[in-house]
Amino acid sequence: MKVTLTTHLEQERSVAPTGYCQTQLTRLESALLHACLLGGKRIRPLLLWDVYHALGGESSTEALLGSMLACELIHTQSLVFDDLPCMDDDTLRRGHPTVHVAFDEATAVLVGDALACIAFSFLVEHSPKGEPSRLLTLVKELGLIASLRGLVNGQYVDMFSSQTQNNEADLRYIQRNKTGALLAFSFTAPAHLLGLPPSTIATLQALGQQFGLLFQLVDDVLDATASSNQLGKTANKDAETEKASFVTVLGLQEAQQRVHLLSSDIHTTLEALTHEGILQQPELLHHWLQLFQHRQH
Ligand code: IPE
Ligand code: IPE
Ligand code: MG
Ligand code: MG
Ligand code: MG
Repeated sequence: MKVTLTTHLEQERSVAPTGYCQTQLTRLESALLHACLLGGKRIRPLLLWDVYHALGGESSTEALLGSMLACELIHTQSLVFDDLPCMDDDTLRRGHPTVHVAFDEATAVLVGDALACIAFSFLVEHSPKGEPSRLLTLVKELGLIASLRGLVNGQYVDMFSSQTQNNEADLRYIQRNKTGALLAFSFTAPAHLLGLPPSTIATLQALGQQFGLLFQLVDDVLDATASSNQLGKTANKDAETEKASFVTVLGLQEAQQRVHLLSSDIHTTLEALTHEGILQQPELLHHWLQLFQHRQH
């Protein structure tokens, strides 16, 4: 990711005027790298890689690099914007000051803007060109996920949510859009790249959403139970801001119970998909299930 980003920036700097403009572009580069390279678990691209192989895919980097870069860049953009003073107003992310704190708010907005757009350039530049219709489907899907069938509407409803006014159905809507949609891309992108039939893609989309729900349930539980130090982001944020989260709406015990029940449901789904021959290396996804269920940050 660093190489692909800095190559573009260096090319741009080579044609920019010498002098103060160079200093400014160097600062932009630092802000972009601050957002992208300081920590982060890289769950979405690594999961995408394993889903591709669990489905029996054999080729590797060449087929997957574009989708892996794109989903991580969209995710990073969503974090930079999520932390802005006008949104969650957070000062800590991945154990470091957030971009608007380390730099300034205008820089953070432009960094997020750049990351969202460059994600699509990289998706096209680093994906196989042999089947253009598959690539176009990925571009269309990610465009929807990053906007009105995912991040933007999920974040919008979340931003104005309230632990007393929103019910569980609202919460599920928020979660499905702000977290589930992008996580499900790690399941559908490999399926599209492998040219799997629409019914299998729909099954994998549903599985991706189950993993997305588990991810957010655990994230909300950790928000209430872990320290800022452990998380690398401000803990107990949901209760403090009285936002609707699985813990503030359902209670901690119920949320923990749901983690347990959902993990067992996903386990059953993985077994069924193995039985149907859809998953050829199911152990890869069983491993992710363990990781999602038991992660501590
Ligand atoms: C955090 O996602 C934001 C949510 C969707 C809840 P991650 O926990 O995957 O964030 P990083 O990339 O590891 O920092
Ligand atoms: C936002 O949810 C998830 C994104 C789409 C960025 P949160 O606001 O709860 O995420 P954290 O807890 O700050 O990581
Ligand atoms: Mg938020
Ligand atoms: Mg937040
Ligand atoms: Mg949170």
